[in-house]
Amino acid sequence: MKRPCSSSGYYFCLMNMFLLLLPVRSQLTTDFYKSSCPNLSKIVRREVQKALMNEIRMAASLLRLHFHDCFVNGCDGSILLDGGDDGEKSAAPNLNSARGYEVVDTIKSSVESACSGVVSCADILAIAARDSVFLSGGPFWKVPLGRRDGTVSNGTLATEVLPAPFDPLNTIISKFTNMGLNLTDVVSLSGAHTIGRARCTLFSNRLFNFSGTGAPDSTLETGMLSDLQSLCPQNGDGNVTTVLDRNSSDLFDIHYFKNLLSGKGLLSSDQILFSSDEANSTTKPLVQSYSNDSGQFFGDFANSMIKMGNINIKTGTDGEIRKNCRVINSQ
Ligand code: HEM
Ligand SMILES: *[C@@H]1O[C@H](CO)[C@@H](O)[C@H](O)[C@H]1NC(C)=O
Ligand SMILES: *[C@@H]1O[C@H](CO)[C@@H](O)[C@H](O)[C@H]1NC(C)=O
Ligand SMILES: *[C@@H]1O[C@H](CO)[C@@H](O)[C@H](O)[C@H]1NC(C)=O
Ligand SMILES: *[C@@H]1O[C@H](CO)[C@@H](O)[C@H](O)[C@H]1NC(C)=O
Ligand SMILES: *[C@@H]1O[C@H](CO)[C@@H](O)[C@H](O)[C@H]1NC(C)=O
Ligand SMILES: *[C@@H]1O[C@H](CO)[C@@H](O)[C@H](O)[C@H]1NC(C)=O
Ligand SMILES: *[C@@H]1O[C@H](CO)[C@@H](O)[C@H](O)[C@H]1NC(C)=O
Ligand SMILES: *[C@@H]1O[C@H](CO)[C@@H](O)[C@H](O)[C@H]1NC(C)=O
Repeated sequence: MKRPCSSSGYYFCLMNMFLLLLPVRSQLTTDFYKSSCPNLSKIVRREVQKALMNEIRMAASLLRLHFHDCFVNGCDGSILLDGGDDGEKSAAPNLNSARGYEVVDTIKSSVESACSGVVSCADILAIAARDSVFLSGGPFWKVPLGRRDGTVSNGTLATEVLPAPFDPLNTIISKFTNMGLNLTDVVSLSGAHTIGRARCTLFSNRLFNFSGTGAPDSTLETGMLSDLQSLCPQNGDGNVTTVLDRNSSDLFDIHYFKNLLSGKGLLSSDQILFSSDEANSTTKPLVQSYSNDSGQFFGDFANSMIKMGNINIKTGTDGEIRKNCRVINSQ
């Protein structure tokens, strides 16, 4: 495994950082709104900053919204659409789980006051996700822009394509591969779980009778296991939450990966990146590198976010620029 910033000296390390940050080919451009909305990045930054001052967890919630948007019909703001029994908001991976919609509304209305009808909700999500990472101590990257908003929100599709915490590693890898994302992207983007929280109901299967074994998940470190057993008793409130990274829950850093090395991943889908048999020849070597090299993690994460932000984008005359992120324009 390559470790650009480990023992190779400062200049070599810097050079590798630049290579990792080269944008991938796309129809999007970082200066898309240069003349139509010159203050866009300032406006989004200010609103995200305000939201984080109010609640630090909002960084995680905004980052996750962009991910859940991109995997379902591409990065087209479809997760933001209200209504419909089969809308994305009411799909299992999002219901009582995805959050931050009000913050997106606030950002959108600030953007609309400065440049009306110009900036897509999908682009706002992509910038807000980047700002959330950066303001949490993570890497900065220039966000390619020019996405247009979709008009369809498909909850059935969301449930099919989004990875679940109970999925085995090969399923998670194929869900990413189906989006044009590779093993590097699986591991680096999973590092998003260095911030934010998860509900008991999404990991309590590990705590008492894991996969019908009659015992807890043996890959879960015993001290953390007993903490979680008290927090999430059998038949308790599945909506209770705890932090995904117990070391530094609000800081975007490499402790998510360090945790995996000591059996302290919260979700099964986190720990299997290191502890499953399939991990040996796929994700484990990357987890090990990232756990000891924040330069490599930050560079790969930024690159993978740009790749994820390019999934099935609508440009040109496809889609529309929504006025209100919750409804399509014709309604
Ligand atoms: C690899 C497959 C993944 C699985 C199985 C997964 C699963 C989950 C689950 C179950 C939660 C907790 C939800 C809840 O408590 O209701 C969660 C939270 C979160 N996920 Fe993922 N996730 C994955 C990948 C990603 C990716 C690629 C990103 C972003 C790049 C991401 C960002 C987040 C964040 C930031 C949170 C915390 C949200 C908050 O506190 O509001 N996840 N994830
Ligand atoms: C982390 O990398 C440094 C060199 O940068 C090395 O000396 C050290 O042994 C590594 N630690 C682990 C746990 O791999
Ligand atoms: C951009 O914001 C500055 C203040 O920060 C303001 O003076 C300027 O008029 C704004 N430009 C546009 C085009 O809205
Ligand atoms: C939603 O996605 C499902 C599953 O892929 C598909 O069968 C269905 O046709 C889609 N519905 C719409 C309205 O696009
Ligand atoms: C994943 O794709 C990136 C380019 O997008 C490439 O640099 C990286 O080496 C690939 N990783 C693997 C494991 O193939
Ligand atoms: C664990 O679950 C399995 C199947 O779900 C069940 O047959 C078994 O009795 C359970 N064991 C305990 C100790 O609860
Ligand atoms: C969590 O809260 C929601 C909304 O209040 C409720 O509908 C749901 O049943 C709760 N879920 C669990 C697992 O307790
Ligand atoms: C986080 O890890 C660092 C060292 O890696 C340690 O010094 C610190 O005590 C840990 N903090 C928490 C809250 O576990
Ligand atoms: C994976 O690695 C672990 C630890 O090195 C080892 O115990 C296990 O047998 C390996 N599994 C496979 C399928 O190679």
